[in-house]
Amino acid sequence: MMKPAPLAASLSLLTALVACGKDAPSGTERAAAPASTAPGPADILAALPHDTRPYGLDVYTAKCASCHGDLGQGVATNPALKGMTRAAMYQKLLDYRAGKAQGAQPAAMAKAVAGLSDAELAAASVYAGE
Ligand code: HEC
Repeated sequence: MMKPAPLAASLSLLTALVACGKDAPSGTERAAAPASTAPGPADILAALPHDTRPYGLDVYTAKCASCHGDLGQGVATNPALKGMTRAAMYQKLLDYRAGKAQGAQPAAMAKAVAGLSDAELAAASVYAGE
């Protein structure tokens, strides 16, 4: 009945970490967001079982690559995703989802992240951030 599902369990963990904002391990953190009290993607990554880490690639491929390119190199007027820490990217994605405009064409991003969970945004940031 409670058959363990590693991915689902990890997502629950991610959600819990994001929600409570304090139990994330920080020993290996490299990219903390100074302005944010939420755990950064690096914290979330550190808490994930190793097997689930490629999850970020799945999210990126399904939800981001069409506009930002397979390698985040950018496509047409969609910007390249370079030089942004994981934490900074995660914060931007949260801001886009919250409707805080950040650039010249915020609607595209607001729509792109509208249906994504905190865990999915964190996973994509872990994959695409630096
Ligand atoms: C429909 C196309 C589209 C999709 C899908 C999309 N993006 Fe974007 N993204 C954009 C555009 C356009 C901008 C520039 C927005 C602006 O200037 O206001 C942008 C901006 C960004 C930025 C800010 C870049 C900067 O330098 O400030 C980040 C980070 C980002 N996207 C990450 C993602 C991630 C991660 C995903 C997948 C979850 C994603 N995007 C999906 C089109 C898209």
